[in-house]
Amino acid sequence: MMLDCSRHFFTPQFIKKQIDALAYFKLNRFHWHLTDGGGWRLEVKKYPKLIEETAYRTQNDWTKWWREHDRRYCHASDSGAYGGYYTQEDVRDIVAYAAKQHITVIPEIEMPGHSNEVFAAYPNLTCEGKAYTSPDFCPGNDSVFTFLEGVLTEVMQLFPSKYIHIGGDEAWQEKWKSCPKCQKRMKDEGLKDTHELQAYFIMRIEKFLNAHGRKLLGWDEIMQGQLAPNAAVMSWTGEEAGLKAAKAGHHVVMTPGAYCYLDMYQDVPFTQPKAMGGYVPLEKVYSYEPIANKEAATMLEKYVDGVQGNLWTEEVPTPEHAEYMLYPRMLAIARWDGHAIDQLTITSETALFML
Ligand code: ACM
Ligand code: ZN
Repeated sequence: MMLDCSRHFFTPQFIKKQIDALAYFKLNRFHWHLTDGGGWRLEVKKYPKLIEETAYRTQNDWTKWWREHDRRYCHASDSGAYGGYYTQEDVRDIVAYAAKQHITVIPEIEMPGHSNEVFAAYPNLTCEGKAYTSPDFCPGNDSVFTFLEGVLTEVMQLFPSKYIHIGGDEAWQEKWKSCPKCQKRMKDEGLKDTHELQAYFIMRIEKFLNAHGRKLLGWDEIMQGQLAPNAAVMSWTGEEAGLKAAKAGHHVVMTPGAYCYLDMYQDVPFTQPKAMGGYVPLEKVYSYEPIANKEAATMLEKYVDGVQGNLWTEEVPTPEHAEYMLYPRMLAIARWDGHAIDQLTITSETALFML
């Protein structure tokens, strides 16, 4: 299960309650989405401004703040400030709590895109050197790698997981096209477009993680340009990316939006609180079969490591609402046992019976 704690912040106590639920339903990975445009949520000792300057924003309501207002971050003490962060002590406590229940916590630190908040604290890391100008790190600037390696060093001290998730999705890449540093990097490295520049970025981060005994995991856009040699792929745009990565011998987690995005409606929209557009009822989640291709079953059983349900929280401001979106659909995610199944006949009655 993935929980987005950037767009809305959830307390350590709430995270532990979800760990209990995951253990109860025999789900074994908690993917913790800790950084994004909604706010940076992880204390990093080397870069204290991350939480001082960007863990709070000017209002709670996502639509008002992101879509209709100015997307500004603020200080915890400012009036109306909304947000929060996890101290390193919180993290150690949660990781140990999860481990006792056989759950591995996999942290996600977003790069090179979805990083708007970082630049409110460290504007030199973006192409124009200014806050609020781009969601992307500048891959042409070596200070970016110094920064990310510093962050990842502390992340690896906190999280013993084999995999570190580095995001990789939806980088805008627009400023890279005119940034002199990015252009120089492309020329020096013989990269023909921004996709290849992104691949350079990801591969450089992979080398760093591998040198420290960890493996890189990212959303399927990390396949743009060229997939880093040892990376694992989280297939969200559909299944094609995951199947392609598996065929090339990469480990894969399947989480296609049409089946696994729990931020979408679970019932007829007019009966529901506002959600992301898209219809993903319980039956749909339950019906997901990641190894539908029987000819390739042996290969897929080897490389498809799991199925994941994701809760993005733009429209999920409270813990009660988060649980309403997660359950029972997470239980349907939990049914997959890693093997191809011959036949899956599913109705809402069988799905409910199984719960
Ligand atoms: C994603 O939904 N951008 C991974
Ligand atoms: Zn640049």
